[in-house]
Parts: sequence; C-alpha cells; structure tokens
Amino acid sequence: MKKGILTICLSIATVCVMAQDVVKLPDPDKNVPMTLYQALQQRKSVREYSSKDIDDMKLSQLLWAAVGINRPDGHLTAPTAVNAQDITVYVCRKDGAYLYVAKDNALQKVSDKDLRKEIASAQQFAAEAPISLVIVTDNAKFRGGSTNGPTISGAIDAGYVSQNIDLACEALGLVTVPRATMDKDALKKELKLTDAQNPILNHPVGYKK
Ligand SMILES: Cc1cc2nc3c(=O)[nH]c(=O)nc-3n(C[C@H](O)[C@H](O)[C@H](O)COP(=O)(O)O)c2cc1C
Repeated sequence: MKKGILTICLSIATVCVMAQDVVKLPDPDKNVPMTLYQALQQRKSVREYSSKDIDDMKLSQLLWAAVGINRPDGHLTAPTAVNAQDITVYVCRKDGAYLYVAKDNALQKVSDKDLRKEIASAQQFAAEAPISLVIVTDNAKFRGGSTNGPTISGAIDAGYVSQNIDLACEALGLVTVPRATMDKDALKKELKLTDAQNPILNHPVGYKK
C-alpha cells in the first residue's frame, strides 16, 4: 500500500518537474497589420532597451517568424540549404535558457541560468534586453558535417533566420540588433550543444527605451 502511494507521489512530482521544463506558447497571431515594405522601411539596429518584458504571445509570434513551421510538410519560415533544417533558436532570459521547439510551439528548458551576460560578452548593452535569441547551426545536419566550426551553408541559413527576426521585430513593435559577438564556448556548454552545433548569431530583443 505504502509503495503504491509512493509511486503515485513520485509520478505526480515527475509530471510537475516536466511541466515546468516545457512552456507551451499560445498559437501565434499572424494578423500583424504592418506590411513587409513598412517593416523594410523601418528596419534598423537598436542597442538600447527598456526593462519591459515580452509576453508569451509576442514571443510566439517572433519565434514563429524566425524559424516556425509554415507548411503542412514541416517546412519553415526560413529557407535552409537542402532543407537541412540545421538551425535552432534558443531563448535566453532571467529565468533560464530554452530551446524553441517549432513543431510543438513550445519552449524546452535547457538551463536554469540567466545567460544574457555570456551573450552580451564585451557589449554590456545586450544584457539589458529582457530576452536574447541565440541562433545555432548544426553541422551534423549536413552530409559529412564536421566539428570544425560552422559550415558556409549553416552561416547563410542563420542569416535568413536573423533577417526574419529583424523584420518580425519591426512588425511587432520590438527592437533588436543582430550580433556575432558572444562567449561561444560558455554558451556551447550552458546550452548543452554537441560539438557539431555552433552558436553563430544572437539577437537581444526588447522594447525601445
Ligand atoms: C553578421 C553580423 C554581425 C553583427 N555583429 C554585431 C555585433 O557583434 N555587435 C553589434 O553591436 N552589432 C553587430 N551587427 C550589427 C551591425 O553593426 C549593423 O547591422 C550595421 O552597423 C548596420 O546598421 P543597421 O543594422 O542599423 O542598418 C552585426 C550585423 C551582422 C549582419
């Protein structure tokens, strides 16, 4: 009897821990009024952010634009060389770091640490943004993928995702800057990346100060 109760308690505890580690995002509202040409007209890099947080709907809209699924066959908003889908995006904020899981429209926690300082590295302004997105390319998704730094295709793929983020920020009333600066070794460790995965760009994202 005691063993049975213990098993039930452990199961409930496990489900609770798992629930904390996965944040389901609301379905992204795709009816954003700004036109593509207005977003292109306004796009610019911004390096000052207010402390206002980004709510889950805005985050869902932003991540879907960055690298969400836009077709029933699983293709993405951003093109990738040979449809390798080598890019993953991590959301880093005060309460930890999360992998964006496009197929579930959810965030999977990978670290309890606030990694914004590691992302900011020598550019302190970046740590002031409420979130930073880290764009990672995975060489293993390409045939013969090595562990010697990012592939050219991976770098190009990251650029598309970065531009999607830039334009989506404009459309959503957010500000950002694409950055190559970051402590890549620290991020590889904290985000628990494989040797073949390379952080390549990041985007502090927030509201205009
Ligand atoms: C690949 C790439 C890497 C960049 N890295 C940084 C960076 O590490 N830090 C930074 O402050 N800006 C960085 N930028 C932003 C550029 O400095 C910025 O885009 C450029 O000055 C033009 O300004 P604009 O984006 O407002 O047109 C980067 C941009 C690109 C495309």
